[in-house]
Amino acid sequence: MTRNSPTTRPRLTVIGTGYLGATHAVCMAELGFEVMAVDVDTTKIERLARGETPFYEPGLDELLRRNLAAGRLRFTTSFAEVADFGEVHFLCVGTPQRPDGRGADLRYLHSAVSSLAPHLRRRCLVVGKSTVPVGTAADLAARLAAEAPAGASAEVAWNPEFLREGFAVEDTLRPDRLVIGVASPAAEAKLRAVYEPITGQHGTPLIVTDFATAELVKVAANAFLATKISYINAMSEVCEAVDADVTTLAQALSLDARIGGKFLRPGVGFGGGCLPKDIRAFQARAEELGVGASLGFLRQVDEINLRRRQRVVTLARKAVGGSLAGRRVAVLGAAFKPNSDDVRDSPALAVAELIAAEGADVVVYDPMAMENAARVRPELGYAPSAAEAITGAEVTVLLTEWAEFTELDPAAIAERAATSTVIDARHALDRDRWQRAGWTYLAPGRPVPDLARLPRPRSERLAMATARGVS
Ligand code: UGA
Repeated sequence: MTRNSPTTRPRLTVIGTGYLGATHAVCMAELGFEVMAVDVDTTKIERLARGETPFYEPGLDELLRRNLAAGRLRFTTSFAEVADFGEVHFLCVGTPQRPDGRGADLRYLHSAVSSLAPHLRRRCLVVGKSTVPVGTAADLAARLAAEAPAGASAEVAWNPEFLREGFAVEDTLRPDRLVIGVASPAAEAKLRAVYEPITGQHGTPLIVTDFATAELVKVAANAFLATKISYINAMSEVCEAVDADVTTLAQALSLDARIGGKFLRPGVGFGGGCLPKDIRAFQARAEELGVGASLGFLRQVDEINLRRRQRVVTLARKAVGGSLAGRRVAVLGAAFKPNSDDVRDSPALAVAELIAAEGADVVVYDPMAMENAARVRPELGYAPSAAEAITGAEVTVLLTEWAEFTELDPAAIAERAATSTVIDARHALDRDRWQRAGWTYLAPGRPVPDLARLPRPRSERLAMATARGVS
């Protein structure tokens, strides 16, 4: 790995150690920088300092431990310490949806700046990576100039992050592109030096622009991805009206190189800590700027997405003969996507909750997200394995496409289910294989078999056989 020469490399700090910040801190240390990360959450900092990542991200644990051992990475809860240590400070705090509206809640960002600014006594660069409404960087620049003892020598830059959970290490060390919004040649030179290990080794394009464009690139990218997913899910709704098959439709579309197959997987829609709140915040900001009409379509993108959850519930209801009350339902998946333990705005948990609200006995299993799921949805039932969740279930609903689920042996688990009906809400299972193993296979956007002829629960079949005198 290329390392910066010790004479030119600035010391870095990372403010906020969530999915973004912890990954950024560890990866920058891996690139050879000395890094100090700060968080207000003492428990999180203690865990990170012990070499434990507070969330599941493939490959991150090992890099964390390696860089702690190498002495390049430190964790603290003191803003004075990071201000004293670093020359480039990365703001990586969360910007969730406001509790009272669709806009972004910037309280963590402002509180991070309030904590840091009074300690900034010498020339430094404060680089925002969090996803923010356009205009935030300029506001923070004005705040720093007023509040930092270094005044205008405490500069701001904006450098949005495009990492995907589950691929965070890869996306940080080998990004598709780097975008930096700067207000001075000095800030540009500093950030070019910071990213030289990446651009130098991989030839990664680095786009230099103003604050507003840099801020917009991030939300525009997430809005585009959300729109692409909702587009194919809208096609799913049309397919349902005419018994067409959205998976074949998506496959045919994806072979057009202009369209491409990425983010064109239909199913239960998008969730997570980014796409849903980002499209809402983007609309809210556009309205404030008087260009709300330009992003009016994002409201529909959101609505299509949320309707997919309801569609899965409708399929489940039909699968059990009309009412979910008192029925046992196995839910496979709780994370918003595989290879993550993140349950923020998870379609899987939302569907589980909707089904439970109809009186069903819902039993959830997820390979990694059980703890997080049980914390936010303690009222749902949980099983320690997929097989145990399916045991006695009258319908099994796959909501997160973990490899563990696609690799299940449908014949073996059919024995455990009360009724072998599966709803593949992510189009992840091999339909033919599950059907050959005796399962009734249902999926949103695909032709639904005649539900009146769906198999009855094993218990009912036994009762009917007994009534007819068949043993
Ligand atoms: C997303 C973006 O992909 C990243 O580029 C961005 O940096 C990040 O948000 C962020 O703003 O921090 P992430 O939320 O980790 O990353 O997850 P994605 O891989 O984008 O998946 C989002 C949701 O869309 C998941 O629920 C996934 O299941 C769903 N999805 C994805 C589909 O339903 N269909 C698809 O074809 C693709």
